[in-house]
Amino acid sequence: MAAASAARKRVAVLISGRGSNMAALIEAAKAADYPAAIVLVVADRPQAAGLGRAREAGIATAIVDYRAFADDRDAFERALDAQLHAHAIELICLAGFMRLLTPAFVQRWRGRMLNIHPALLPLFKGLNTHRRALEAGVKRHGATVHFVVPEMDCGPIIAQDSVPVLEGDTEDSLAQRVLEVEHRLYPQALRLVADGRARFAAPGNETPPGYQP
Ligand code: GRF
Repeated sequence: MAAASAARKRVAVLISGRGSNMAALIEAAKAADYPAAIVLVVADRPQAAGLGRAREAGIATAIVDYRAFADDRDAFERALDAQLHAHAIELICLAGFMRLLTPAFVQRWRGRMLNIHPALLPLFKGLNTHRRALEAGVKRHGATVHFVVPEMDCGPIIAQDSVPVLEGDTEDSLAQRVLEVEHRLYPQALRLVADGRARFAAPGNETPPGYQP
């Protein structure tokens, strides 16, 4: 008899906008053998379109409106933590979440918080990645899922995939091609983390397999 499968990891997806990556994660998590369940979607603004998609999918949603906290990032994160705690969240997926999180928050979630970035990191950190890729004349562009560390768009890479940059590409056509990659990549990366095959290891803190002191 097959061993009982381990409990699915409880995941919150944090969004600011349309939530297409969130939707891809929700879709993937419907598979019977998927090791994670999307149990909460949190938006930092009430008009985030992804909230509606999450509700339609029957997922609990919460709004932690950044404007209500003015410049008090600690208070914003306390409100966020309260939501995460209330839903017993074990892993966080940032998916188009436009707030920078404090080092203290990131540290608390070290190895348990993922982000998707629309570029082949370490190339093109930050915003406007597709425009910058076109300006740089790269032949390939893509997307990266990584563990979150305090420095923006850094952190150990979990999964990465690329697409060709085609003659005549515009920012929009390239963004669309990369987005299709994102929708495949994020569910794959979350699977790797949720079933323990990808783990955060601080550089210099790893024990090579089979190592004997
Ligand atoms: C994606 O391109 C993601 O890589 C970036 O922000 C965009 C969010 O899109 N971080 P969506 O809200 O998931 O549709």
